[in-house]
Formats: sequence, C-alpha cells, structure tokens
Amino acid sequence: MRSLQGIVARLTTIGFICALGLSFTNYSTRLQISDNRANHATEKLLSILHADVDVSIDPLGNNTYQISRNGVTSGHIFEISTTEGYNGEIRLWLAVDLAGTVLGTRVINHQETPGLGDKLDIEVSNWILGFNNQSLDSIIWAVKKDKGDFDQFTGATITPRAVVTAVKLGLIDYKNNRDNWMSSYER
Ligand SMILES: Cc1cc2nc3c(=O)[nH]c(=O)nc-3n(C[C@H](O)[C@H](O)[C@H](O)COP(=O)(O)O)c2cc1C
Repeated sequence: MRSLQGIVARLTTIGFICALGLSFTNYSTRLQISDNRANHATEKLLSILHADVDVSIDPLGNNTYQISRNGVTSGHIFEISTTEGYNGEIRLWLAVDLAGTVLGTRVINHQETPGLGDKLDIEVSNWILGFNNQSLDSIIWAVKKDKGDFDQFTGATITPRAVVTAVKLGLIDYKNNRDNWMSSYER
C-alpha cells in the first residue's frame, strides 16, 4: 500500500514537472513567434512607406504602430481585415498619415484564387497601389462596377470589392480613433 502511494506521488510529481516544462516551452515559443511577427511587420511596413532613416515605426500594441519622422508623429499603421473575400478572410496593413490620407496598404494574407482574385497581392499586380494618396473624400470608395473609382479584376469583382470596403472602413476607424491612439501612446 505504502509503495502504491509512493508510485502515485512520484507519478504526480513527474506529471507536474512535465506540465511545467510544457507551459514554459509554450510561453517562450509564443514570445518568439510574437517577436518574429513584429520584426516581419516592421520590415514590411518600412517597405510600404519607402521609409528612409528618419522614419521610425513604434508598436502601440493591438497590431497598431506609430510612424514618426525625425521624432515627430506623422501617422499610424494598423491591421485591417475583411471576411468578404471570395475565399474568406483577407488581412492587410493600412498606413495613414495624420490627415487620414493613405500612405500605403499591403496584404498580409489571403486565400483568393490564383489567377483571378490574387491581384490584390503586390507581387502579382500594382492594383493595391491605387489606394496611395487617397482619403475618404478624394474618391468614390467602390469598384467601377458599383459606380466607384477602383478597377475590379477581370472576372473577379468580389475580392477587390471586399478590399475597397475594408480600406474605407479602416479610414473611418482611423478618423474616429486617431486621437485615442495618440494619447494612449503618450501616457
Ligand atoms: C473557382 C472559382 C474561383 C473564383 N475565385 C474568385 C476570387 O478569388 N475572387 C473573385 O473576386 N472572384 C472569384 N471568382 C468569380 C466570382 O464567382 C464572381 O463571378 C466574380 O467575382 C464576379 O462577381 P460579380 O458577379 O459580383 O461581378 C471565382 C469563380 C470561380 C468559379
């Protein structure tokens, strides 16, 4: 009986140590993944902005970054997404200056159909550059098929329609929340 208790105690201790080890590995892997993600994001964001040495991008948390030029805040970069893609979710970075003008946008990931819906990807076409320098009042935020200013893709309207709407909503969100983001950073 005594030895059975000993075995149970030993097994419990081993189980506890294993669980501890696993949660530590899980925690450190998550930190590593989040570090890698932040580095990758910063690289991609700098390339969106064609940034020079005077530009810095500082994380504010919540996938939002502050852009500063020579130490002065000049805009923000944040993640936007839509589930209205032909094949589901499309996630993008949106960089906006303080006046609400688009500095750049890039797809982070999508599952749109190669050859049809993937022209949102800068590696496939320049379509995404059509957002540059636009603001809520500068154009009609819809694809041409919906009487707007953005080209749709040949035989594929669903993808560009989803992205145009997502960027427009991102700009509205920015207009409404920019001041909060700035003050949260200053605190
Ligand atoms: C296999 C398959 C894949 C498609 N993939 C896409 C896609 O990724 N993006 C897209 O906008 N349309 C895609 N389409 C076309 C859409 O079904 C739709 O016909 C097109 O977007 C035009 O939409 P509209 O009728 O609203 O103008 C695909 C169609 C098929 C049959």
